[in-house]
Amino acid sequence: MKILGVVGSTRDSEVSGVHKLVTTVLESSGMEYELVHLKGKKIGGCICCLGCVKDNICKVDDDMRELRDQIVEADAYVIGAPNFYSTPNAISHAFMERWYQFRHQAGNTLWGKLAVAVGVGGLDGQPVVDQLNKFFMYSFIEPVAQVTGQGAAACFTCGYGETCQVGVPMALYGPDVKITPDIIPDVGKQPEVMNAAAEAGKLLGNRLRNGHDREEVTQRMQQKMMELFKSST
Ligand SMILES: Cc1cc2nc3c(=O)[nH]c(=O)nc-3n(C[C@H](O)[C@H](O)[C@H](O)COP(=O)(O)O)c2cc1C
Repeated sequence: MKILGVVGSTRDSEVSGVHKLVTTVLESSGMEYELVHLKGKKIGGCICCLGCVKDNICKVDDDMRELRDQIVEADAYVIGAPNFYSTPNAISHAFMERWYQFRHQAGNTLWGKLAVAVGVGGLDGQPVVDQLNKFFMYSFIEPVAQVTGQGAAACFTCGYGETCQVGVPMALYGPDVKITPDIIPDVGKQPEVMNAAAEAGKLLGNRLRNGHDREEVTQRMQQKMMELFKSST
């Protein structure tokens, strides 16, 4: 049993809240895992060429090719992305779009697998996990837990954070803000967030170790998906 962890942040691991939370979930699972950083990868969005409809294999030649096998081989996913304008950042979204290759003609490669969604924002990570959870459902993957945290918005280190009227420091601390290391949000200093990540990992690990029934998960997710469709029409 193996988990694939995906970090959608394009920042260095040392400053990325997504990296910290995704790795905490993975480590806490007690399972074997592989970790992929989307930073630096060339992954474009789905171009809807329909080259994948016969065999469920994307024909676009970019870095998504090498990730396909890892996606297929994994039993579960821990996917994390930063909140950019209330949605996952572009490379994470492109990565997700390219899972379209698995969806044709009842391609059931991913059905019944498990997942944890991770979202980090300068203010809020919730919009990201909402998107990720819907994304998982499209492949009948069960999101067993979600983790959101507040990361360090770049405004804290851009050099103008104390005077910028539209930056996060002023939005969080008011017009007299003085930026010192202790006021910069860091998921690692948010015990409830780190705890949620650890618990999510344990839950995922336990579900996998207990030999989850992919058929049962698939049916439950299909039903949930139909309900979602009905409520949105
Ligand atoms: C282009 C851009 C748009 C952003 N939009 C939002 C936003 O709408 N809401 C929010 O809470 N944070 C927003 N942020 C802040 C990031 O989500 C925040 O810095 C987060 O910590 C990034 O994740 P990371 O630490 O893993 O890199 C934005 C950052 C950038 C660069």
